[in-house]
This record gives sequence, structure tokens and C-alpha cells, in this order.
Amino acid sequence: MHQQTLLATLSAVLAALPVAQAGFYTKNSPVLQVDAKSYDRLIAKSNHTSIVEFYAPWCGHCQNLKPAYEKAAKNLDGLAKVAAVDCDDDANKAFCGTMGVKGFPTLKIVRPGKKYGRPVVEDYQGQRSAGAIVDAVVAKINNHVVKLTDKDIDGFLKKEEEKPKAILFTEKGTTSALLRSIAIDFLDAVTVGQVRNKETATVEKFGISSFPSFVLIPGGGKEAITYSGELNKKDMVEFLKQAAQPNPDPSPSSAKPNKKASSKDKASKEAPKAEQSSSTASSETSTAAAPESTLIDIPALASKAELEEHCLQSKSQTCVLAFVPAGTSEMRNKILLSVSQLHTKYVHGKRHFPFFSVDSDVEGAAALKEALGISGKIELIALNARRGWWRRYEEGEFDVHSVESWIDSVRMGEGEKKKLPQGIVVEKPETTEEAKVETEAPAAEEVAEESAHDEL
Ligand SMILES: *[C@@H]1O[C@H](CO)[C@@H](O)[C@H](O)[C@H]1NC(C)=O
Repeated sequence: MHQQTLLATLSAVLAALPVAQAGFYTKNSPVLQVDAKSYDRLIAKSNHTSIVEFYAPWCGHCQNLKPAYEKAAKNLDGLAKVAAVDCDDDANKAFCGTMGVKGFPTLKIVRPGKKYGRPVVEDYQGQRSAGAIVDAVVAKINNHVVKLTDKDIDGFLKKEEEKPKAILFTEKGTTSALLRSIAIDFLDAVTVGQVRNKETATVEKFGISSFPSFVLIPGGGKEAITYSGELNKKDMVEFLKQAAQPNPDPSPSSAKPNKKASSKDKASKEAPKAEQSSSTASSETSTAAAPESTLIDIPALASKAELEEHCLQSKSQTCVLAFVPAGTSEMRNKILLSVSQLHTKYVHGKRHFPFFSVDSDVEGAAALKEALGISGKIELIALNARRGWWRRYEEGEFDVHSVESWIDSVRMGEGEKKKLPQGIVVEKPETTEEAKVETEAPAAEEVAEESAHDEL
């Protein structure tokens, strides 16, 4: 394909496009990066609630979620954990599979269950905005705060008299996420209670004159101490530390420093993969020989024979075909730009995904479109002759984001596949023996391509 002008115009656009690659969440991100190994210690065995995103760096929806997710992480700092697992990392694939991850991103809220180390895991299906995520997670922060009234305050104070206690005096009937998270930090160390302002006898007993007020009862008959600082997590925890230490989270029992990159590097068998997943490398680092700002055009299928050879044989694997009008036009440029951008991204990510363009004047193109019942001047389809299915891009304007989401869904095997009509797939006059071999052992390349579906 000769598209010098297109190429020139588009290089700039591409340079500005985030390239799906390593360092999806960077070192400085507020999102906690977790892998198959550290999940148990950091999430499953935590006393705190977490939300965990299972993602793949190439997934468009994951990239769209990233800013909101990082914002949620900031807002939930100290209250709950906001974590992410890169399911594209070989070391995590099996783990993501056992977590039941079938598409990206998958968000799960994980909170401690009755039995230590056996958390309750629920899918988060809500809106992918920071606010909605924060609200959903806050609602799942376990509540160990005892609500106290004038009637039961004496019983509360007498129970385990040696043990430190803390009481928040408040005008509110609900228990804040902040107080709940403090109670979790000090589980078994400080019993945390809450008294409403209308419990006048208790309010008077502690000499409370303003709300909210936070009081520490150190235990062992020591005088109660009223907190005078700001109501934030860090300072309140410091205040309670004079009576007891918070539980270390994560628990230090398996006290290995949590190096994010190490497992990744060890796990990658082939050199190209390692290069791709150099997670902590900054986003400016370009890995491949070709600079990322150079658009790599998708190959064109210029004849019926090429079309059949690459995509329509009974052994052909998934192909993405962009049918475009011959000549130049805005529509043609737009679809080719989007697809070539993705193609470029995949090439840089060392991923194999077969994109092809087919000009309208190529012999066999019209017949194929007609057989599939598609008649647009511009059409984007995915088809797999070997498995006998095809899918049509129907979502929008061929902008790179919607095309990418569609490709993601194809890769993940989501969405409805149509059956390829009879007569499209050409049988190569091959021996029966080869056909037999094929059913037993699919081509290596296809195994690689589809492993993401199988394991996820
Ligand atoms: C969880 O809470 C228990 C007390 O119920 C405590 O012994 C343990 O250290 C806490 N674990 C973590 C990881 O904070």
C-alpha cells in the first residue's frame, strides 16, 4: 500500500497515542500492583477491603478506566486498597483464570470473610467512574465499630477492662469509612465504638462539648484522653498508638520485600516477551528498532489468491479485514488509520494479530462481501475460516478507540459470532492425514493467539 501522505499526516497523531505496553500503572501510581504471588498476602489475607482490577495493557477499556481508577485509589487511600493485576503477564495468566476473569477489565471487590484468608469476592459491575467505584468500595468496608447508647456504655467499658478502647462522639447515625478503617487497623488491639450526640448521659460522662470528638480510653483504669487533632486517618492512628499498635498490613510473616518486576522477568521465557513487559520502564522508552511514532501500515491483500491464502483457507486463523474503497477518500483514511495504529501498537508489543486491508477493486472482495451480506463502502470484519465464524464491526465511526474495543472483544471471544456461509472457505486439496493432524494439534501460532481466551 502506498500512502505516503497518509503516513506523514498520521505519524503525528500516532505519536500522541498512548502505546499499549509496559508500565500501564507506573511505579508512582496510587494503584497497588499485585501479581499471582502477592495477591494472597496483600489482598486475600488483608483485614481491609480491596478492589482489584484484572486488566491487560492492550485493552482499550482498561486504558479508558485508568484515570478514574487512579483517582479512586487516591480517594480511598487509607480506607481500602485499590489494586491491579496484569493478566497479560504470563506469570499471572493462570491466576486470572482461577479468579474467573473472562474479559478486561474485570473489577472485583474483595473483603475479609468469616474465615481468615478466605475473603468474600464479588464482581463490581457498576459505572467505571471514580465516584461510583469509591462508593461501592466504601459500602463494602467491614464494620467492626460498636454503636453505643446510654444503656450499654457501662457494659462496653467494663468488658475486657485492660484493653484500650476508642469512642467517636458524633451527630451522625452512620459509621464513616474512616472510623471503620481505623477499627480494622486496630482489630483485637483497640475496641472502637461510636456514640451519638443524643446519648446525653454518655456525652456528659465524658465531658463532650462538641461533635465530632474522639476519645481514647487506654484501659487499666487510666484516664480517658480526648483527641484534639484533625479527623484524618494518619493522625488518628498516631493518637491511638499511645495505647496500642495497629496490625501491620500486609502481615510481615512472609517478610519478603515486594518487588513487582522480579516475578515478571523470571517468568518470561522468551526474550521478546521480556522486553515487552519491562513494567517499570518509563513510557518514553521505546523498545523496538522502529520508533513508536512511525505508523506501520497494515498489509493489503491485492488479489483473490492472497485473500484466500491468508484468510479463507480451511486452516486460516483469525483475520481482520478492512474493506475499503479503492483510491483515496476520507473514510478510507480513517479506517486505515485506526487499524494501522492498532497494528503498530501490536507490532511494538510483539503481538501477532493479522490485519489486512482489501481494496474494493480486488477480485473476490465484492463476492465475499455479498456472501456475508455486508454492503458498506467501508467494512471491518474479523473472520476465522478454520473455525467457521465471522464478526462485523458495527459499533461506530471507525475511530481508534471503538475499533480497539471491538478488537479486544474479538480477542476475548466476546460477542456474537456469525457462522460463515457455505462456499466462502476454500478447501486446499490437502491430504486427509494433514486434516487429522490438525484436529489433534492446532497450529502453534493459533494456540498462542487463543491462549488468552482459554486461560481467562
Ligand atoms: C487481622 O486482624 C487480626 C486480628 O483479628 C490480627 O491478628 C492480624 O494481624 C490482622 N492481619 C493483618 C494482615 O492486618
